[in-house]
Amino acid sequence: MIIAIDGPAASGKGTMARKLATMLEIPHLDTGLTFRAVAHALLRAGLPLDNEDLAAEAAAALNLASLDRSVLSAHEIGNAASKVAVMPKVRTALLEAQRTFANRPGGAVLDGRDIGTVVCPDADVKLFVTASAKVRARRRTDEILSRGEAADYEQVLADVKQRDERDQNRAVAPLVPAADAHLLDTSKLDIESAFQHAVRIVEEKKNRSL
Ligand code: C5P
Repeated sequence: MIIAIDGPAASGKGTMARKLATMLEIPHLDTGLTFRAVAHALLRAGLPLDNEDLAAEAAAALNLASLDRSVLSAHEIGNAASKVAVMPKVRTALLEAQRTFANRPGGAVLDGRDIGTVVCPDADVKLFVTASAKVRARRRTDEILSRGEAADYEQVLADVKQRDERDQNRAVAPLVPAADAHLLDTSKLDIESAFQHAVRIVEEKKNRSL
């Protein structure tokens, strides 16, 4: 079973994807980490974020097995990632690795922005997880503070809105729900309730396929 989970930053899609993968005992790929890794490689090498050929080279050299969430989850890397994610050559270079991961025997859970629309248009279950920008900024601020780092809610809110704008309006693979995606608004749901909702959708699909 291939499960595609899309949604904007801090919508809760990552937690939901991890929990579903654990429940179903199938592997999970957070595709945001792949874009973050490209941005991080450029920043670490002192290279600009706006050179498409350099960014595509970094994307082609990426090894999915070496994605380090503890390094890549930094808030600033998310913003840098959304800059390289607008580049078609970067997306093409990452697409093959993402699809190979999705099509492994036994299935997989992938989360990102374009999984249900571009990476896995034939996924068995598609979820589009969303929440208001204010709720997402509050969650992201609390998450940064809980790591012992400094965070300013208003700044995080501005960043979240800027990232939404970039992700929704880019020419290639913009953030948009697939026509056949189930929409899940987590603004007023805690993560456990949202997860239970997703589980019901997955179970229904499994029962229909039997
Ligand atoms: O999900 P995360 O916040 O880690 O993603 C970082 C950035 O990577 C996003 O803002 C988006 O620009 C990009 N991304 C994407 N397509 C995906 C996953 C992430 O464009 N499938």
